[in-house]
Amino acid sequence: MRFLNLPPLLALYFAVTPALALDKTQKDDLIVQCAACHGADGIARDAETPDIAGQHDVYLYNQLKAFASGKRPHKEMRFMGRHMTDGDMRAIADYYASLPKQ
Ligand code: HEC
Repeated sequence: MRFLNLPPLLALYFAVTPALALDKTQKDDLIVQCAACHGADGIARDAETPDIAGQHDVYLYNQLKAFASGKRPHKEMRFMGRHMTDGDMRAIADYYASLPKQ
């Protein structure tokens, strides 16, 4: 009897897991790229790059939008911004806002 419920549960598992995995991978891939300049912890090692750890999430999101649209001009950040979806920007902004400031 208890095995009767297994196939639908497995089907649900396989339907949901790839979507979650994809989302996580995209966010992680982006964070690896950001880390090259902003540091893995959101604290930049180079004086020309701002620290973004612990910054307000809305501010971070707004800057990413502004870079992507060209409203805030910057070559590298425009490139980064144009490779992010709106959801990526929100997820990344939340992520850096959650990191401790130094
Ligand atoms: C090639 C280096 C480089 C990479 C990669 C990079 N950034 Fe930046 N980022 C910068 C620089 C330099 C600035 C400062 C721009 C300016 O002077 O206006 C900046 C600015 C920002 C700002 C604005 C901060 C503020 O205080 O106004 C945010 C937010 C940001 N980056 C987020 C990201 C995120 C998220 C990623 C990864 C998806 C990323 N950056 C990848 C170099 C980089």
